[in-house]
Amino acid sequence: MAVKDIMDALRSISLEEAGLTQNAAELVKDIKLIGDELDILIYLPKAGAEGIIKKKVEDALLEQGEVKRVNLKFTSSPPPQPRQEAPAGQPAFQRKRVMGVRHLLAVGSGKGGVGKSTVSANLSLALARLGHRVGLLDADIYGPSIPTMLGLKGERAEINERNRIMPKEKFGIKVLSIGFMLPSEDTPVIWRGPMLMKALTQFLFDVEWGELDYLILDLPPGTGDVQLTLAQNVEMSGAIVVTTPQDVALADVRKATSMFREVSIPVLGVIENMAYFVCPDSGKKYYIFGKGKTAQFAGAYDLKILGSIPIDPEVSERSDSGEPVVVGSPESDVSKAFFGIARLVAQELG
Ligand SMILES: Nc1ncnc2c1ncn2[C@@H]1O[C@H](COP(=O)(O)OP(=O)(O)OP(=O)(O)O)[C@@H](O)[C@H]1O
Ligand SMILES: [Mg+2]
Repeated sequence: MAVKDIMDALRSISLEEAGLTQNAAELVKDIKLIGDELDILIYLPKAGAEGIIKKKVEDALLEQGEVKRVNLKFTSSPPPQPRQEAPAGQPAFQRKRVMGVRHLLAVGSGKGGVGKSTVSANLSLALARLGHRVGLLDADIYGPSIPTMLGLKGERAEINERNRIMPKEKFGIKVLSIGFMLPSEDTPVIWRGPMLMKALTQFLFDVEWGELDYLILDLPPGTGDVQLTLAQNVEMSGAIVVTTPQDVALADVRKATSMFREVSIPVLGVIENMAYFVCPDSGKKYYIFGKGKTAQFAGAYDLKILGSIPIDPEVSERSDSGEPVVVGSPESDVSKAFFGIARLVAQELG
């Protein structure tokens, strides 16, 4: 049980009986949990309410069974007031940093199947090969594909003695996928609202990431609950939007970009995937989905193009066999494109 769960429990305690309008959480001045023993300092706005507060708080916390002792003390000085309203132009929610992580970078897209996971995996590996310490978090609860791409299918997450999730190490990066937590990779997942939010935040904050320069977040497609939950609760350095040069995909980039911008996450730029095909016989470039559309679009939305990745059957073959192209074929054009993007990202974030 974390202090946050305790605060949630306290928040549901009404103190009307003691003539107070606050809930119990609002009176907490200090709180410390060591093992199963909780020290809690509570502000007493009004003499005479001690008995009721003590009983209600102790009952609520001991009932759950994980806290075995509650040492409750009162103080007559109030806790600092939480900020009521955010300053103009700032989001009203509080974002938390992931400890030990210098830059958290989300990889999103408006449309599914444009290559988000391919980009997340290869960009992570390219950053690692450039000497950075990198983690990759597969937050696609609807279809985690990172385990397959990195040859980690069937792996299960382990919890260490500090009750934290251990990421797997593969090809020099730390990897965690929601797939490692599901009974099997094909288990359908239906997570919504507070449960989803809890699972996701646990996935970021209760993980033994160690010290990382970059944590890359592979998001599910679209602009749904997962993206919003993360965007509102986690401090991010920026986001990258992946697209293909088709009109339908580009239209959705607009939605994804607006979503990130609305929650004040800087969009570092767009990655154009499946941009062209180089004929192996003639070396001639074919722009299968159209040429120049992404550039035109990016210009209109004041977005930078971080790189263009060609279509190459080797990309999907290697992803399916668990050894991404940056590892298995680092000299290929596709890998060169990924290294170029990795350098740009590192340069942008410093
Ligand atoms: N540049 C490329 N060349 C060839 N195949 C590619 C390329 N990029 C991605 N693919 C293939 O396209 C398919 C979709 O890619 P990927 O799974 O990365 O997309 P996604 O956006 O993560 O999808 P989802 O929305 O389902 O999460 C995969 O089979 C992948 O191997
Ligand atoms: Mg994916």
